[in-house]
Amino acid sequence: MKKTKLWHVSSLPTEDLPDKRTIKGKQKTQLSMIHIQPVGYPLRLAVEEKNLEVTTDNPRLFEAYAKEQWAGFQVNEGDFLFDQFMFPDFAFEVKTCEPKKGGVIGVQTEIILDSRPKKTPYIHHEIPKVDFDEIIGHQQAKEKCKIITNYLKDPDCFSEWAPRSVLFYGVPGTGKTMTARALASETNSSIFAISSTELIGIHVGDASRRISNLFKEARTNAPCIIFLDELDAIGLDRSFQNIRGDVSEVVTALLQQMDGITVNKGVVTIGSTNAPKLLDRAIRSRFEDEIEFKLPTLEDRIKILEMYIGKLPLPIDVNIQKLAVATEDFSGRDLKEKLLKSALHQTLVKSADRITSKQIYETLSLIKKENTHETLRKIFS
Ligand SMILES: Nc1ncnc2c1ncn2[C@@H]1O[C@H](COP(=O)(O)OP(=O)(O)OP(=O)(O)O)[C@@H](O)[C@H]1O
Ligand SMILES: [Mg+2]
Repeated sequence: MKKTKLWHVSSLPTEDLPDKRTIKGKQKTQLSMIHIQPVGYPLRLAVEEKNLEVTTDNPRLFEAYAKEQWAGFQVNEGDFLFDQFMFPDFAFEVKTCEPKKGGVIGVQTEIILDSRPKKTPYIHHEIPKVDFDEIIGHQQAKEKCKIITNYLKDPDCFSEWAPRSVLFYGVPGTGKTMTARALASETNSSIFAISSTELIGIHVGDASRRISNLFKEARTNAPCIIFLDELDAIGLDRSFQNIRGDVSEVVTALLQQMDGITVNKGVVTIGSTNAPKLLDRAIRSRFEDEIEFKLPTLEDRIKILEMYIGKLPLPIDVNIQKLAVATEDFSGRDLKEKLLKSALHQTLVKSADRITSKQIYETLSLIKKENTHETLRKIFS
């Protein structure tokens, strides 16, 4: 791409603008405003990170820089402008401009760079709504969530006593993710829900950059929640460095971001793991609270079964009390997904119009054979 001649903004002529793209002899209207959005390079190597972002710390300085290279360019809404100096061929899309067609960039043109961070592919903002009433048990977690809710609704009210971070740990399927979702629904906050394995990239430095991007994006969207699922993937004890070469680097990046206490105002980090013992000590100690998610008690299992049976699309013949007794060591997920859902599907396969207790106990005996929770609990507790 050819370079344009450098023009100093202060010396730009307002009337006769220098331009290779304007049509000679035609009247040129100067744009009063142009709003551009960074869109990236026209090409990239397939192995590269997608989310290259550019931004500016000083919009006035950017405007002067932009005019130096684009003064005299005739632009229409939807056109692309290519950077020619710092990031040659990096493109900006003209989102809006005044007038919409045929105007020329000149001294009077206000150039607005839309540098709001784009949504990063590994950060999931959209989360289905969950109500706290749907979570059976976990009183301690609910109490902590209440405090966090108050904080997120008014981040100034706690000053240095603000809740910052909490670690949810326990066997799979006990409601850790569900609780984080309920918190986000209750506070109407953005939730940055990330499976930590997604933060590990393929290049050296990927993970630390992603972690830093994540916290940066969260700070921009505060008040909000960062939910780091499978935290052990990025918070692994540094003694595992020999097995996975990036462990130290990733842990350091996470520690740095979690320590950004003053700047992380209005951001609450929730970590979730099945294996707290694998966590790096320094990471673990950053969490001000640790809440264990245990398997549901008999009473909880009755409530979980009642709740999900009430939502089944077919009637069911079962004694809930007896079923709850028979499902010791079942998590909420086991009860809902493995037992009730499987029994429902089997019933539908048979084209029957009700789930019989025989069907339920058949499904139950199949699950019991492969239920490994007891083993998992022994390993991790
Ligand atoms: N205490 C509970 N009350 C009601 N439903 C529950 C409960 N625990 C689990 N469930 C059901 O099981 C599903 C899975 O739970 P969730 O994903 O929150 O488990 P988790 O603890 O995050 O598991 P993992 O450690 O595997 O990530 C929930 O969406 C919900 O349907
Ligand atoms: Mg989970």
